[in-house]
Amino acid sequence: EKARIGVTGLAVMGRNLARNLARHGHAVAVHNRTFAKTKALVEEFGHEGTFVAAETAEEFVASLERPRRLVIMVKAGAPTDAVIEEFAPLLEPGDMIVDGGNAHFEDTRRREQALREKGIHFVGAGISGGEEGALNGPSIMPGGSKESYEALGPLLEDIAAKVDGEPCCSHIGADGAGHFVKMVHNGIEYADMQLIAEAYDLLRGGLGLGAAEISEVFRTWNAGRLDSYLIEITTEVLAHTDAATGKAFVDVVQDRAEQKGTGRWTVQTALELGVPVTGIAEAVFARSLSGSAGLREAAAGLPGPTVAKLGEEEAAGFADAIEQALYASKIVAYAQGFNQIQAAATEYGWDIDLGAVAALWRGGCIIRARFLNRIRDAFAANPQLPTLLTDEYFREAVAGAQDAWRRVVATAVRLGVPTPGFSSALAYYDALRAERLPASLIQGQRDYFGAHTYRRTDREGSFHTLWSGDRTEVED
Ligand code: 6PG
Repeated sequence: EKARIGVTGLAVMGRNLARNLARHGHAVAVHNRTFAKTKALVEEFGHEGTFVAAETAEEFVASLERPRRLVIMVKAGAPTDAVIEEFAPLLEPGDMIVDGGNAHFEDTRRREQALREKGIHFVGAGISGGEEGALNGPSIMPGGSKESYEALGPLLEDIAAKVDGEPCCSHIGADGAGHFVKMVHNGIEYADMQLIAEAYDLLRGGLGLGAAEISEVFRTWNAGRLDSYLIEITTEVLAHTDAATGKAFVDVVQDRAEQKGTGRWTVQTALELGVPVTGIAEAVFARSLSGSAGLREAAAGLPGPTVAKLGEEEAAGFADAIEQALYASKIVAYAQGFNQIQAAATEYGWDIDLGAVAALWRGGCIIRARFLNRIRDAFAANPQLPTLLTDEYFREAVAGAQDAWRRVVATAVRLGVPTPGFSSALAYYDALRAERLPASLIQGQRDYFGAHTYRRTDREGSFHTLWSGDRTEVED
C-alpha cells in the first residue's frame, strides 16, 4: 500500500503531525535523518494507524502515492534548504512539498519559485498550536498554489482543529502567504502575552494581589469576552506553586523573556511595509529589555515615583478597569496585525480573505480566542474594512472601554509600573482618530534644515520656504 502523505523530520512536531494523520485514517510514510527515531515512532505508536517507515530518502519518496505529498518538519533556515535539496531531485512534476516549519516568508517565496520551475509545488504552511495542537488539531495556514491546495486541503482540513464544525485551515494565498500569516500570528501572540503580563503587573503593583489571587481574577475574565487560550494558561501558570520552595512559580522564574525570533520578523517586515504595528513592536522590545541584564543591573537604583500604591478609593474598580484596558489594547494589536496582512497582500499580490484568517485562528492555535468570531464577522460585513477599530462592534467596545483604559494608563504612569503595551495602544488609537497630527511641524522642520519640501492643505503641489532667506515660499 502506498502512503497518502509523508512526513520527514520526526522531532516532536513532525512526530505528532504524522500521528495525527495516521489517527485520521491516512496512511503516512515517515522518515528521519536517523532511522532510529523513525523506528521508535512506529514501535510506540504503530497501533494508531498505518505508518510506512522509510530508511532512505529514495524509499520514502517511493512509498508515496502520486502526486506525492511530502511534509517537511525540520528547523527553519539551512536545514530546510538541505532537506529540499535532498528530496527535490527525487520528485516529479505535480508533486508537492509542504514546509510546516516556522520559515521566513521570503525564504518560502524563494523556494516556491525555484521549485515551480521544476514543476513541483512548494507549500509553505504555517502550523500553530505547539505539540498538543500538532497531535490533536492545529490551526493550519497553507500558502502555495490553488492547485496544490486542491490535493492537500482535504487532508490538512481533516487533521486541523474544528470550531463549530469548521476546520481551522484554509488556503491563505500564493507562495509565502501562509508563512506570512503565521508570522503575524506569532507577532500578535507576543502582543497578547505582553498585554496579559502588564495586566498581571498592575494587579500586583497597584492592588498588591498575590499570584494565586491574580489567577482568580484572570479566571473570571476568561469567562467573559477575553475568553482565550492565553488567558486560560495564564490562570494555570499563576496558580502553580514551585515544588522546591513552596513559593508561587512566577516568583522563582527569572524575569527574562526569550524569543526564537518570529515576533522580531513581524516587526522587521512591518517596518519595511510601513505599517505601524506598535503593539507587537513594544512586545518584542519589552522582551529584549527584560533580557538586558547588564542594563537593568546598572539602572536598578534609579528613583521611581514617591507614590507606589493605590489608595482605597482609587483601588475600587481598578481590576475591572484593567480588564477594559486589556480588551481595548488587544483590539488595537489585532487591528494592527490585520493591517499588516492587508499591506502584504497588496505588496505581494496575495488574495487573502482576512475574515477566513480570523476564522481559522479561532481554534488550534496559540492566539485562539472567542473574540476572533467578532473579527471574522467584521471582515465578512466589509472585506475592505480599513481598520478593525471602525467596525461597529469594535468601535463600540473601545468607546465603552476608553475611560477605564485612560485611567489605567494614567495610574500606571503614576505608580511607575511599565505598561508599554497598554500605553502605546492608547497612543495609536488617539493618533489614528486625531483630526490633525503634529506631523505638520515635523514637515516644517524637515523643510527648514534639509529643503525636503511640504504639501499644503489648501493647494496642490510641493513647496519650500526660503528659511535662511526672506522666508518667502517657492513652489518646488
Ligand atoms: C505556535 C507558536 C510556536 C512557537 C513560537 C514561540 O503558533 O504554535 O507560536 O510557533 O511556540 O514560535 O515563539 P518564541 O520562542 O519566539 O516566544
